[in-house]
Amino acid sequence: MGKKRIDNPRRPVFPTPAALITCVDREGKPNIITLGEVAIVSIRPARISIGLRPVTYSNGLIKATREYVVNFPTADMVEKVDMCGTRSGRDSDKFDVTGLTPEPAIHVKPPLIEECPINLECKVLGIFSFGSHDLFIGDIVMMHVEEDILLDDKIGQVDPSKGLIFAMNAYWRFGERINTIRFTGKKGSAPPV
Ligand SMILES: Cc1cc2nc3c(=O)[nH]c(=O)nc-3n(C[C@H](O)[C@H](O)[C@H](O)COP(=O)(O)O)c2cc1C
Repeated sequence: MGKKRIDNPRRPVFPTPAALITCVDREGKPNIITLGEVAIVSIRPARISIGLRPVTYSNGLIKATREYVVNFPTADMVEKVDMCGTRSGRDSDKFDVTGLTPEPAIHVKPPLIEECPINLECKVLGIFSFGSHDLFIGDIVMMHVEEDILLDDKIGQVDPSKGLIFAMNAYWRFGERINTIRFTGKKGSAPPV
């Protein structure tokens, strides 16, 4: 079978995590938005980007406060993740609707989501717009991880197997681990861990 050429692909990079981002309004009232557009942009120092369309309520909140928390849910939280991605904080309180628990962060005003085993506190370094989404680049100022999924506590490496993945307009669990990286030891030959 040959390859088809597609001029205008919709989501050509997949899978992505299905993440819950928390943010606050000027009075400190929290909101949650589900995002697939989440990516690491620097490992040292640890920096992460999130992509939000201007139409979302959370976009304006993060522009105003310049802080957010990236919370990674477990696969069994899929219904709550879906609720946060299909209604707006403009007209509903998503902590109320989902029953999720806000927990104070250390360095930022948006709360952590207690039920999520990983929470990344972020401060916005820059905002860029190249099309449909605004890209917020965040400095990760603190990571919180449940101890039972933590593999290396110096660098915060975690077991991803309980995580939730987003691809092709659907939610997925992690599949089989098929190999590990065979490091050659040569400079620049493998991603830093
Ligand atoms: C699995 C999933 C992934 C999503 N990814 C994004 C995304 O990356 N960027 C975005 O702007 N909206 C994304 N959305 C849609 C927002 O979550 C949705 O518009 C939400 O209702 C906005 O909430 P807010 O108005 O309270 O900010 C996604 C929704 C789902 C269900």
